[in-house]
Amino acid sequence: MVTEKKIKIAPSMLSADFSRMGEEVSKIVAAGADLIHLDVMDGHFTPNLTMGPQLIKSIRHYTNLPFDVHLMITHPQDYIDVFVDAGAEFITFHIEIDFPIQKVIDQIKSRGIRAGIALRPSTPISSVEPYLADLDLVLPMSVDPGFSGQSFMMSTLEKLDRLQQLIRERNTDIEIEVDGGITLDTARLVGSRGATILVAGTAIFGSDNVKEAINGLREAASA
Ligand code: DX5
Ligand code: ZN
Repeated sequence: MVTEKKIKIAPSMLSADFSRMGEEVSKIVAAGADLIHLDVMDGHFTPNLTMGPQLIKSIRHYTNLPFDVHLMITHPQDYIDVFVDAGAEFITFHIEIDFPIQKVIDQIKSRGIRAGIALRPSTPISSVEPYLADLDLVLPMSVDPGFSGQSFMMSTLEKLDRLQQLIRERNTDIEIEVDGGITLDTARLVGSRGATILVAGTAIFGSDNVKEAINGLREAASA
């Protein structure tokens, strides 16, 4: 059964001050965040290196909000357990990896947490179709994975339409997450196309008023 979902805002800690990560988590929790988005990059799948399980574990006690871990790494299958042990409640990995996708989904689900698949902007939505029944979340990325502060790719909108259609046809309950270049304007566009979780780095951490930024994104996407 497809239910109407409340829009959730997931600030991306990639745009936070890494020297004060715990306080940055507390700041966005107080400002009304729904999830904490953690971007893990390995310098191989992406041209950037970010954080690992140790950092995630060290900020875990700053909040009870779910940790939404986005693995932009070549071998997620080797790290599922360490990220679950570090406190992940959602693990999303990329469909472009060279390893059986179903095995990674099963690994995540066997630890009792939620599983998501992310797609690079150039990867078609049809690639995720065989796995929809087993997924909790699909994340069509709206920028090339690697860095915050990039512009939203408008080609994401067609992909969201297609994804929404596939989910409706199956009458299944899956979150649609969008990540990259989310602003008030793009939040409106993705919210009207079924996105239920909006990741934002620059739009939140670059704002003077984090609470207004989070509320503004939620309202724009709900309109
Ligand atoms: C990009 C990351 C995003 C990014 C979002 O590879 O997955 O989470 O940090 O940052 P903004 O909102 O600045 O595009
Ligand atoms: Zn991300």
